[in-house]
Amino acid sequence: MRLLVTGGAGFIGSNFVHHVIEHTDHTVTVLDALTYAGNRASLAGLPADRVELVVGNILDAALVDDLIAEHDAVVHYAAESHNDNSLHDPRPFLDTNIVGTYTLIEAARRHGTRFHHISTDEVYGDLELDDPARFTESTPYNPSSPYSSTKAGSDLLVRAWVRSFGLQATISNCSNNYGPYQHVEKFIPRQITNVLTGERPKLYGAGLNVRDWIHADDHSSAVLTILQSGVIGETYLIGADGEKDNKSVVERILTLCGQPSDAYDHVVDRPGHDLRYAIDSTKLRTELGWLPRYSDFDGGLAATIEWYRNNEAWWRPQKAATEARYTAQGQ
Ligand code: NAD
Ligand code: DAU
Repeated sequence: MRLLVTGGAGFIGSNFVHHVIEHTDHTVTVLDALTYAGNRASLAGLPADRVELVVGNILDAALVDDLIAEHDAVVHYAAESHNDNSLHDPRPFLDTNIVGTYTLIEAARRHGTRFHHISTDEVYGDLELDDPARFTESTPYNPSSPYSSTKAGSDLLVRAWVRSFGLQATISNCSNNYGPYQHVEKFIPRQITNVLTGERPKLYGAGLNVRDWIHADDHSSAVLTILQSGVIGETYLIGADGEKDNKSVVERILTLCGQPSDAYDHVVDRPGHDLRYAIDSTKLRTELGWLPRYSDFDGGLAATIEWYRNNEAWWRPQKAATEARYTAQGQ
């Protein structure tokens, strides 16, 4: 297959491209605007005869139409992805996440092209810490932040285009990813690179919030499974039973880096901070036979720390500006 991967120079998109090249014989065109979050270095070393980077915007309808006409399937990762940024400047989230998705699905329906929409568990809002429930495909949408509300909006557009226009689409909603190539603004890489640069990790509020961690490579294998065997019109939740509170994750990073586990600071909390996310991925596992490979969070975290230790040239250029932004926000 000829795959068009939007946002393929970002964190999860680039992990997907690496995964596809290793595990299939598909060719990949990456369409990426190389915003502050995109990095062509994340695609370094991939075979030039199978991977092409087109620097362009998913809001560019003519470019999108031309590219979709030449491909068998679209996997749509491109987004503004950071909750904290969405609280300070929501506009790019509306443009890319909603109008960008609209631009892509209009072209995909014109050409009858298979479309897979990447989304997040945050569309479901949050759960109480002591609630035994987890999100399923039938949990009602209840997003909290500008980011998650624009992702919810994009999901609803895709669903409507399936029903009204017969768009050949599937949707997946995944939990929090970790692994290589993640921007240093995000929780785990921020704390790892803080330790590596002699800064103390920063925990929002009391740090009791729970996230359901999955390795980015497991997210990629799930998306490939859905692309190959998913039923058109269906939504699949992706998760790897990785619930951890933020405080435990920071303590684990410090310990794995040989520091005292309490060598972190509490900083001002995120407004509207979702308490807990948890995914029930039974549908994906039973209907499509997918299973995660990284069941050992500690091992995956240690490998991720090692990756940041060995790839300082990849993250160093973004670190100072990212921390300056956080400092201005009191975080
Ligand atoms: P990211 O911010 O690391 O990467 C986003 C990529 O999209 C960047 O390369 C950026 O340059 C590109 N991009 C942004 N706006 C664009 C535009 N208008 N046109 C073309 N390219 C554009 O994000 P990520 O963490 O890799 O997330 C990728 C997708 O996965 C998003 O849709 C996000 O909602 C979803 N998701 C993320 C997580 C997570 O834990 N990070 C979990 C579930 C779902
Ligand atoms: O659940 C999936 C979502 O996971 C994706 O849709 C988003 O794109 C992705 O960014 C992520 O959202 P979160 O807001 O959960 O991720 P973030 O890395 O920003 O924060 C994870 C948790 O850590 C959250 O509870 C806030 C907290 N945090 C974050 C930062 C940056 C801290 O305590 N300190 C920090 O410095």
